Amino acid sequence: MTDLVNIAVIGSGYWGPNLIRNIAGLPNAALHTVCDLNPKALTQNAQRYPGTRTTPDYAAVLADPDVHAVVLATPAHLHAEMARAAIESGKHVMVEKPLSLRADDAQALVALAAAKNVRLMVGHVFIYNPAVVMLRKLVQQDDLGKMLYVYSARLNLGIVRDDLNAMWNLAPHDFSIINYVLDSAPVRVSARGFRLLGRKLEDVAFVTLEYPGGVVAHVHVSWLDPGKVRRMTFVGDQKMVVYDDVSQDERIRIYDRGVMPDKLPDAYGEFRMITRGGDVQIPRLDTTEPLRAECAHFVESIRNGSMPLTSGQDGYRVVQMLEAAQQSMNADGAPVDLA
Ligand SMILES: NC(=O)c1ccc[n+]([C@@H]2O[C@H](COP(=O)([O-])OP(=O)(O)OC[C@H]3O[C@@H](n4cnc5c(N)ncnc54)[C@H](O)[C@@H]3O)[C@@H](O)[C@H]2O)c1
Repeated sequence: MTDLVNIAVIGSGYWGPNLIRNIAGLPNAALHTVCDLNPKALTQNAQRYPGTRTTPDYAAVLADPDVHAVVLATPAHLHAEMARAAIESGKHVMVEKPLSLRADDAQALVALAAAKNVRLMVGHVFIYNPAVVMLRKLVQQDDLGKMLYVYSARLNLGIVRDDLNAMWNLAPHDFSIINYVLDSAPVRVSARGFRLLGRKLEDVAFVTLEYPGGVVAHVHVSWLDPGKVRRMTFVGDQKMVVYDDVSQDERIRIYDRGVMPDKLPDAYGEFRMITRGGDVQIPRLDTTEPLRAECAHFVESIRNGSMPLTSGQDGYRVVQMLEAAQQSMNADGAPVDLA
């Protein structure tokens, strides 16, 4: 293969144009083709990117030997089949989240990509966010002490989707971030979901994830909230961190605070728990656009033949969590063990 990676983006609806823009701007890649069933989307892309081919025919993209890699930004129910076909054709594939709607499909994709020796990457974009990279560093270097718990809120008014419930649409972000920051995967999941708009799909969900070592994570997702909230709190026994992705200049706040037993026993000989207050630190963060970093990483993993940071295996793990959470939700919150 030449050094330039020729990429076809499939799906130019709401999210695809962001991928297209970033890929078109990469130094070691070319936006070779944009494929969509919608003729309007093709016309717009042909005007914006004159050297790029446009087609509604996915099979033709896969048959084109000049296309080295495909990026799938199509609706989630199409991911598994479209990714399978691409890998079978020998293309490297980046799939938007969620990797698939079934864990066994995701697992099959991972195995197929390994057999065909192509890169399979999932678009867990927050892993390329400098704030999340810092969170992982803080936790992995034990700066927070022993991790106790995590909670996350990803809320907004809309976008109310017709194809996926709020959990399948939004929680892949929280799940992928928490797995990455803790460098772990949960062993047990329970979830409640509510269909408040009277449709078939849950609009609000509360998911509890239990990680090895007793670390618990709670994830609240909703598209029925007055405003945009993307906030995560990581609580250790020494320090606590709040990650507010909506904040302009204080996305990470590190609180040197905690709760600990008093040094001396009280009148009854008991050690009471006392709070410890301390400074708040607001570190400076890199301003690279996470989606650009994600697209650049895909290209580099192809050029180097290396496993992407957000691999098919990571995508599989998140789908497995979503599937287990859905199973729990369908059983009114009964916990589901993950192997
Ligand atoms: N990472 C993020 O923050 C983020 C944000 C939004 C969406 N997404 C993901 O991106 C994906 C797409 O979501 P969206 O909101 O853009 O959906 P969308 O429905 O707006 O766009 C999907 C596009 O795919 C096209 N399409 C459908 N079938 C096709 C086919 N067989 N061949 C070619 N084109 C086809 C449609 O015409 C449409 O233009 C989903 O997986 C979603 O979860 C990710």
